[in-house]
Amino acid sequence: MVLDTFDRPLRNLRLSVTDRCNLRCSYCMPEQDYVWLPREDLLHFEEIERLVDVFIDLGVDKVRLTGGEPLLRRDVPTLVAKLAARPAIRDLAMTTNGVLLAQHAHALRDAGLHRLTVSLDTLHADRFKDLARSDEHHRVLEGIAAAAPLFPGLKIDTVAIRGVNDDELVELIEFGRGYGAEVRFIEYMDVGGATHWAMDRVLPRAEMLATLRTHYGEIAPVQEASSAPADRYRLPDGTIFGIISSTTEPFCHSCDRSRLTADGMWYLCLYAPSGTDLRRALRGGATDAELAELIRSTWSGRRDRGAETRLTERDRSPLIPIDTLRRDPHLEMHTRGG
Ligand code: GTP
Ligand code: 5AD
Ligand code: SF4
Repeated sequence: MVLDTFDRPLRNLRLSVTDRCNLRCSYCMPEQDYVWLPREDLLHFEEIERLVDVFIDLGVDKVRLTGGEPLLRRDVPTLVAKLAARPAIRDLAMTTNGVLLAQHAHALRDAGLHRLTVSLDTLHADRFKDLARSDEHHRVLEGIAAAAPLFPGLKIDTVAIRGVNDDELVELIEFGRGYGAEVRFIEYMDVGGATHWAMDRVLPRAEMLATLRTHYGEIAPVQEASSAPADRYRLPDGTIFGIISSTTEPFCHSCDRSRLTADGMWYLCLYAPSGTDLRRALRGGATDAELAELIRSTWSGRRDRGAETRLTERDRSPLIPIDTLRRDPHLEMHTRGG
């Protein structure tokens, strides 16, 4: 196992399979235009598999497919099947916005995907239209309805934003309960791409809990040791929900994550300004041993704690100015896959 300078293991690989998205969530893609990765740069499935095998040899046993929207990548169930055939991947999951899920849910399950997370920020179509600039809200709900029976323990991710959906926390928990799904509320993060971020729009965990206590009464933290970003809570009737307080109480100290973009750039922290070009190494003829050495030495030197560092800054404003994002789309959350 490879450890970084804070003894964090390299275990959790987020694999973005496309930077494109069919939604425009205001916390992720608020702009009118985007610069996309050149198609010829996208890794082929064989290239992804080869890199994943190198990562597995170094200790990775959790892989999550992300985007943009991963279901926009053609034949993604084929990639799932190839990854699912590797027993060393103990946990194979996907995060999707759900728009194309109803049509792909069976294929994903049959391909061997273990777990699924769907993003859902509101239960109201009119609000979704403002929030995600799309009329496809009903398709997201249909996607959840189709996927929930196929993926027990389905998770629903909600970015909670003050003045936008902070009045829906209870409704969302109730909606999730109806499907046996675990809802997780995520604090609005000032990551690349979040050009409209402001601290006063962040709904801190403490406030979410206060609102939920008013409605439900006692809320008990679930005691567990885990490197997962969500802290989980139990309602009096046993329903579990989670909060990912990446902004006010970050989990950098136990972060075992890194992310590979669709064009093969490897980033450690979500907030990292630069990454390692694995595509160039791969296409330049590097052997597996050379790729492994590049990855090992990079992880061993890891010292970033992006969200914690941001906490120490006064007068916080969006992380990256828009012209910088345009010059390097790799800085965008939708390219890094969260
Ligand atoms: P589980 O394995 O089910 O716990 O999945 P997950 O929570 O890691 O995956 P998911 O894609 O649902 O991530 C939830 C959210 O956590 C993301 O959308 C991000 O907002 C946030 N997140 C993911 N990775 C990181 C990270 O490395 N750092 C920080 N600060 N936040 C992250
Ligand atoms: N803050 C918090 N979460 C974000 N995501 C994207 N942008 C942000 C942000 N600024 C996450 C959401 C979404 C997933 C794909 O990425 O959880 O559901
Ligand atoms: Fe929304 Fe995810 Fe698309 Fe970003 S990548 S716009 S968070 S659906």
